[in-house]
Amino acid sequence: MSVILAIESSCDDTSVAVCNNGKITANVIANQTIHQNYGGVIPELASRVHQQNIVPAVQQALINAQVTKQDINAVAFTRGPGLLGSLLVGVSFAKSFALALNIPLISVNHMHAHILAHFIDDPKPNFPFICLTVSGGHTQIVLVKDYFDMEIIGETLDDAAGEAFDKTAKLLALPYPGGPLIDKHAQQGNPLAFKFAEPQIADLNFSFSGFKTSILYFIRKQEQENPAFIAGNLDDICASVQHSIVQILLNKLKKAAKQYGINEIAIAGGVSANSGLRNGLQQTADELGWKIYIPAFQYCTDNAGMIAIAGYHKYLKQDFVGQNVSPMARMEF
Ligand code: KG4
Ligand code: ZN
Repeated sequence: MSVILAIESSCDDTSVAVCNNGKITANVIANQTIHQNYGGVIPELASRVHQQNIVPAVQQALINAQVTKQDINAVAFTRGPGLLGSLLVGVSFAKSFALALNIPLISVNHMHAHILAHFIDDPKPNFPFICLTVSGGHTQIVLVKDYFDMEIIGETLDDAAGEAFDKTAKLLALPYPGGPLIDKHAQQGNPLAFKFAEPQIADLNFSFSGFKTSILYFIRKQEQENPAFIAGNLDDICASVQHSIVQILLNKLKKAAKQYGINEIAIAGGVSANSGLRNGLQQTADELGWKIYIPAFQYCTDNAGMIAIAGYHKYLKQDFVGQNVSPMARMEF
């Protein structure tokens, strides 16, 4: 029997979850809207808002899960990677909470947790599977051999896929985070209206910085001829950019599946909420006979539910850390 409290504070969402014997019974996410005014996450503001949100989020999670502090057997927390000031709030809270209740601490890697979110609901993937993890900070293709035996077989050499969405949104004067807004406009646009060249990157790696620049030049050129180009074509621009990003991701995923002879394919991370990627993956699966796994929306973007399930699998192995643990902005995979 185990009841695990999990804390996620790596970026701009303060999230607290409860995992009761492998089932997520609470997943509270306090989003920080303050960053919308700045076009990106301001680390100093993020830490301050985590500090304000963390205790109310914990109280709400306990209420939602219908447990008391005394029922908790262990505290799992995101150790990294992420913004150091943000991580410090969650890690310090977790350590104090565990110390006060005299219960063990479980350290979780945020990128592992995005993948382990697939073990929250059914159907669960079978090992080995391939996971495309696409978020605001990372783009990785991971060979997942077991819960904590994972190998990065491809990754971005520069920007992440989420950044490609967010930076394009910024060019289009859409507020941060732009990914969900591009997705919304894309649903009303023509994905083939404009063409953007696919970057030619070796192996299973990605590059999005040149892609982003090509969109910038394209928009500048169009605006010279028609100053109202963005306003008049917003849906088509969003649909075309989204289509291009999704094709880049799916092409590498196809290559990885073929190279490793694996047809159990998962997606994870904030960009896995994208409707174009979800539909494109389904289509590819139908064509190639893949068995695919797509997390529920609440477990795609940053959330403590994924930290809780990762914590649960570490709890089963009694894999704990001491009170001298500290957060890591960069963390080995
Ligand atoms: O995993 P996540 O919540 O945080 C990180 O660990 O980075 O991912 C956030 C990223 C942002 O870049 C956001 O724009 C993107 O995920 N995102 C989306 C969608 N929902 C979130 N991108 C495209 N379409 C979406 N529907
Ligand atoms: Zn994340």
